[in-house]
Amino acid sequence: MSSENQLDITLRDIEERDLQILYEHQIDPVSVAMAAFTPRDRDAFMEHWAKILVNPDVTKKVILLGDEVVGDILRFQRGGIEEIGYWIGREHWGNGIASRALTLFLEIEPIRPLYAIVAEHNAASLRVLEKCGFVLIDRNYQADDLPGPDVVDYLLELPA
Ligand SMILES: CC(C)(COP(=O)(O)OP(=O)(O)OC[C@H]1O[C@@H](n2cnc3c(N)ncnc32)[C@H](O)[C@@H]1OP(=O)(O)O)[C@@H](O)C(=O)NCCC(=O)NCCS
Repeated sequence: MSSENQLDITLRDIEERDLQILYEHQIDPVSVAMAAFTPRDRDAFMEHWAKILVNPDVTKKVILLGDEVVGDILRFQRGGIEEIGYWIGREHWGNGIASRALTLFLEIEPIRPLYAIVAEHNAASLRVLEKCGFVLIDRNYQADDLPGPDVVDYLLELPA
C-alpha cells in the first residue's frame, strides 16, 4: 500500500463555514502563480461561492485531513466541458493529499469524460492528473473564460 492510501483523507460537501479557509488558500501568492489563477477579493469570492453552494450541477467537496480542512476539489461545467479543479493549502503540499483526494473524488463522481485545464508550468498538478489516469490531449488549449493570466494551458482528459 502506498503512503497516499494511508493518509486519513476524506471528502465532504462544502458548507458556508468552510469558505474562509478556502478564501485564504486562493489568495496565497505562491499557489496563485502555480495555478495561473487570478484570485477574487473577499467580497467577490463570497458572492461567487454563494452561487456555487446552491448550484446542484457542481460537485463540490472539501478535502479533510483528519478533521482539518486542507483543500477543496470540484467538478463544474465551463466552456461546454465538464472540468475538475482542486486546491491544497500550501503548508500541506508534497504529502500526497491532492493525489489521494482526486482518487477518492473520481470514485464518487461518475461523469466521464472529465477534463482538467492546467498551466504548462504546473508540474505538480500535471503529475497528480497523470497518476489518476488523465491524458494530455491539447498542449495549447484556448478558452475565452479562464480566470487567470495569459499562459499556455494544457487540456487533459479522463476518458469515458
Ligand atoms: C498542485 C497541487 C494541487 C498539488 O498538491 P499536493 O497535495 O502537493 O500533490 P501530491 O503530493 O498529491 O502530488 C504531487 C506530485 O507532483 C510531483 N511534483 C511536485 N512538484 C513537482 C515538480 N516541480 N516537477 C515534477 N513533479 C513535481 C510530486 O513529486 C508528486 O508526484 P509523486 O507522487 O509521483 O511523487 C498543489 O500544489 C496546489 O494546490 N497548488 C495550487 C493550486 C493549483 O495549482 N491547483 C491545480 C490547478 S490545475
